[in-house]
Amino acid sequence: MKVLVVGGGGREHAICWKLAQSPKVTELYCAPGNAGIAQVAACVPVSATDVEGMVRWVKENAMDFVMVAPDDPLALGMVDAMEQAGIPAFGPRKNAAVIEASKAFSKELMKKYHIPTAKYQTFTELEPALAYIEAQGAPIVVKADGLALGKGVVVAQTVDEARQAVREMMEDHKFGDSGSTVVIEECMTGPEVTVLAFADGKTVVPMLSSQDHKRAYDGNQGPNTGGMGAICPTPQYTPELARRCMEEIFRPTIAAMQAEGRPFQGVIYFGLMLTPDGPKVVEYNARFGDPETQVILSMLDTDLMDIMQACVDGTLDQLDIRWKSGAACVVVLASGGYPLSYQKGYPISGLDRAGEKAVVFHAGTKLDDQGRYLTNGGRVLGVTATADSLDAAIDAAYAAAKEISFTDMHYRTDVGRAF
Ligand code: AMP
Ligand code: GLY
Repeated sequence: MKVLVVGGGGREHAICWKLAQSPKVTELYCAPGNAGIAQVAACVPVSATDVEGMVRWVKENAMDFVMVAPDDPLALGMVDAMEQAGIPAFGPRKNAAVIEASKAFSKELMKKYHIPTAKYQTFTELEPALAYIEAQGAPIVVKADGLALGKGVVVAQTVDEARQAVREMMEDHKFGDSGSTVVIEECMTGPEVTVLAFADGKTVVPMLSSQDHKRAYDGNQGPNTGGMGAICPTPQYTPELARRCMEEIFRPTIAAMQAEGRPFQGVIYFGLMLTPDGPKVVEYNARFGDPETQVILSMLDTDLMDIMQACVDGTLDQLDIRWKSGAACVVVLASGGYPLSYQKGYPISGLDRAGEKAVVFHAGTKLDDQGRYLTNGGRVLGVTATADSLDAAIDAAYAAAKEISFTDMHYRTDVGRAF
């Protein structure tokens, strides 16, 4: 099969790395890809959000299957466009991707179908939003409605902070249009775990659990990032919790989407908080997480191509999905200053030595004209190791990470240990 993966970060490198191992995949392409992805797939110079251009390229090059990984093209309806062109595509259609693209939608869905989540209200006007904050008090959480690259969420410790966040979103349009509607919700407490699941519209099959580190610095300090590291599975997610989440959250969510005429096909990401009242949904994403994918796919035994086809064909209930034993850890090596301002274009050394100890997924790299890898993004690399135990996986990932260096390189030293 000729397969195209859409996207170009560490997550897409992990997806391509896994697909390259499938005997079914004879030709693998990635658009736009990156310098690391180019080791396992042919990179195609089409932007991930160029829906028309992507369909044109896919038709001209006779792809058999398309996997759309990032949130933006999913929200833009790239899967719908592929289907209209007669090309099987993995990922939710636009009307289902809205579960991530609109927090107002997902909160309403959870309320209607009694799926446990934080209490909330949605606002499109500033004054009632400010009055609600005043009435509720702090701590309180303010969220911009649309996709804001994971940065449109403020967990406010004081009423003033919450008021300021609402003003920035609704008055100053800090997140553009995505802030014209805000969701204000109760602040939950407890450890956070992530469960990704495959879905074919009717059946939902959870993957191994994972946990990522969103803050930039050790001890969960500093600004929120896309994710600085992750482990899989997480010891906090017990079999008892897994049963409860399946009954109270995973199956009801997929059934709710089906009942709403928005069958969810693809990967659904459940961001969960283990509160004193039980597991509750913090957020849904309509895709694989980054960097969770790097550890999860490292633990997956089954052919990913088989799973994706079963999701598209609606035959997921007939597939036996198997996982490796042990655990995996990914440590993200970032550019100094990320997620704020940072420099790009520094040469990276030690990749070969690190590659002998772990799998190094590239998130933001490019090749210079002498064939050297240069930094080319905020998150640069995801050093990923698997081992018999979580401790051993963490140690192995750090041992490999220590081989790599570039100017101003920054990584957290407590991945898998600070939750
Ligand atoms: P989100 O983009 O919705 O996942 O939010 C980003 C982060 O903000 C989450 O990972 C949580 O750590 C935190 N957060 C979001 N909603 C809540 C909430 N209702 N209570 C406490 N923390 C929250
Ligand atoms: N690591 C969080 C996300 O992909 O949204």
